[in-house]
Amino acid sequence: MTTIPRRVWLEIDLGRLISNYRKIREAVAPAEVLAVLKANAYGLGVLPIACALSDAGVTQFGVAEPYEAIQLLPLKGTVQILSSILPEEIAPMVESDVVLPVTDLESAKRISEEAVKQGKRGVVHFKIDTGMGRLGILMRDAESVIRKAHSLPGLDCQGIFSHFPSAYDTDSLLTQSQVHDFCKLLDLLAQSGITFSKRHIANSDAINNFPCAYQAPFNVIRTGINLHGSFDTAGHRALRLDPILTLKTRLTAIRDLPAGTGIGYGHTCVLKRDTRVGVISAGYADGLPLALSNKGYMLIRGVPCPVLGRISMDYTVVSLKKLAAAQIGDEVICLGGEGEQAIHVEEWARLKGTHPYEIICSFGNRVERRYQNA
Ligand SMILES: Cc1ncc(COP(=O)(O)O)c(C=O)c1O
Repeated sequence: MTTIPRRVWLEIDLGRLISNYRKIREAVAPAEVLAVLKANAYGLGVLPIACALSDAGVTQFGVAEPYEAIQLLPLKGTVQILSSILPEEIAPMVESDVVLPVTDLESAKRISEEAVKQGKRGVVHFKIDTGMGRLGILMRDAESVIRKAHSLPGLDCQGIFSHFPSAYDTDSLLTQSQVHDFCKLLDLLAQSGITFSKRHIANSDAINNFPCAYQAPFNVIRTGINLHGSFDTAGHRALRLDPILTLKTRLTAIRDLPAGTGIGYGHTCVLKRDTRVGVISAGYADGLPLALSNKGYMLIRGVPCPVLGRISMDYTVVSLKKLAAAQIGDEVICLGGEGEQAIHVEEWARLKGTHPYEIICSFGNRVERRYQNA
């Protein structure tokens, strides 16, 4: 079958991904870096991202659930589920040597029983809820649950970890108290001889805002969004990282429209004067936030072309007032680019009233992922 060039593509710069990884590794050393690659590496395509990181020396990968874990098994290193495990998922995960979270005594017992049945010990990390309020062993129960689980025959209790809900806020008292409580728990357990070779709490926010979260007793950090050169919009940036994404499409039509023409659904833009417009081949199905309607801009031949009217599913209309030289087929940068004109993930997030994670995870299925500078 003939290969049809795609209209919309996302260029993912693996060279920059690796340089971001090295900057993070240097900043948190001697702590090790665990790459968080859940949700298909935040939608970017897990295998190319994981292979590039693996080639650069990453040996620990974190995911949200078993389907994601299985995809990473061919890599060198450990694959770890960071969230929770359902009873029926335990057997195949133990069989595949995936590192599992212990979120309560029941899950610890189930994993141990299964591991004994398989003639091995299941490697686990205790997940402690120090304040995230989502999953994990509550602080008040942690000591007793861990003591009991520690004596189970089928567990290799390698690690212990927790997660921050608001480490983007440099002054967050909650984050400070989470670190304090976690360290107190480690001390308490150590007094009765229970120690862990992997201890982790920091996400990207904490790397930038809370050095105490990657210094002793912590010796691993978990990062996702910083690898992509993006940051939580609310947080301070300590690291100088480079964005790795450029979303591109093509100009599919150039039209001279008379004053008074309404543009797109709802006619949210009515032209005040005769205007040359361009129709670009990308819309909200490709991940362009509807919030760019009448607000955002696209770069054509390096010139910012403002969005006119409402973004539709497949197309977006832009003004070509400042770009007489535009030609049908011109490459259009929807997101990314270099220098002052560059359009950042954080800017789209601000316009949409969301965070960069949602922007990165929202590129559509028909958007081809193209990997560069491997
Ligand atoms: C448990 C856990 N650790 C680490 C991360 C990585 O977060 P970030 O992408 O902010 O570094 C996540 C992502 O949400 C997570 O759920």
